[in-house]
Amino acid sequence: MSTLTLTGITKRYGSVAAVDNVSLKVEHGTRTAVVGPSGSGKTTLLRLIAGFEPPEAGCIAIDGEVVADQGVIVPAHRRSVGVVSQHGALFPHLTVAGNIGFGMGRRAKDRDRRIAELLDAVELPQAMGGRKPRDLSGGEQQRVALARALARRPRLMLLDEPFSSLDTSLREVMRAMVARVLDDAGTTTVLVTHDQAEALSFADRVAVLHRGQLVQAGSPQDLYFRPQSPMVAAFLGDIVALPAVIEGDLAVCALGSIAVTADGRAGTTTIFLRPEQLRLVPTTAVDSDGEVIGSGFAGPTSTVIVSLGKRPEPLRVRMSSQDAPPVGTPVKFVVLGKARILP
Ligand SMILES: Nc1ncnc2c1ncn2[C@@H]1O[C@H](COP(=O)(O)OP(=O)(O)O)[C@@H](O)[C@H]1O
Ligand SMILES: [Mg+2]
Repeated sequence: MSTLTLTGITKRYGSVAAVDNVSLKVEHGTRTAVVGPSGSGKTTLLRLIAGFEPPEAGCIAIDGEVVADQGVIVPAHRRSVGVVSQHGALFPHLTVAGNIGFGMGRRAKDRDRRIAELLDAVELPQAMGGRKPRDLSGGEQQRVALARALARRPRLMLLDEPFSSLDTSLREVMRAMVARVLDDAGTTTVLVTHDQAEALSFADRVAVLHRGQLVQAGSPQDLYFRPQSPMVAAFLGDIVALPAVIEGDLAVCALGSIAVTADGRAGTTTIFLRPEQLRLVPTTAVDSDGEVIGSGFAGPTSTVIVSLGKRPEPLRVRMSSQDAPPVGTPVKFVVLGKARILP
């Protein structure tokens, strides 16, 4: 059974539809990422699911129980939903243990044991239980926020960009830790993020939100390799787009004749490749497809700009800095896998 079912959810602020007719199912025990640019309605959607605000139209059901519909509104504290927000939002006057135990009630029988168990789960030392939130790092605060949200064993966990205020190296450690803790607890999860790499690596299923509308949902591989719109194609990663003429299983383009998944299409169109499908091989001027005219260094990767003989626009390819040929090198492209038609 689906843990969460959204049917035609709409929420407006004035003339802006922050969430516009969104329908989505989240299966029991899975992790779904809702990804979209800033302002696309992600936080609003989570607030509607959590019960902090009512939708104007549509229905929300959790474990088959309708929690929001015309005339029905189950308040947030009765939804059995855990929420972790971007900045943790811990109670500053309570200790770490006080924060984690907040929803359990003072006399709950197993309170202390459960707090200890949750500190362990989020990999914090027991001694930290007596500290105040202001004496914790950002990463530690997010761990406490997660422990607090898990304390009441919610049937659904909502995470609103919980890693975005952390630095890059910590973000990956936290993402793996959160995934493990949620898996161990068997908690169904919805993560919202503007970070496509985070969405693709964290979730079993990804849904893309754009201007309040859900534009595509599917497995991470499905969305990355088979986007149904240019927006989804470009939002989930870099693309190299090229005008092409399709002839059978080949696309004739500035890189020559390359293999394409044509899906029955023929004639003039635009194809795309992911940058990791392109290898740049230094060669002699006569054999070359073009020449490196610029390079932007970004540590592990560089963006290499290649002018192609007949094509007015240069190609920009992000590649490993180790393999990036210097400016002035004549290069040939080797294409790995198949191009796809840009929808
Ligand atoms: N309380 C509010 N009052 C008015 N407009 C709002 C309010 N909350 C959000 N919005 C607007 O709704 C849209 C979606 O916002 P939000 O859900 O916060 O997006 P995201 O989390 O994807 O960045 C934005 O245009 C935002 O300005
Ligand atoms: Mg937001």
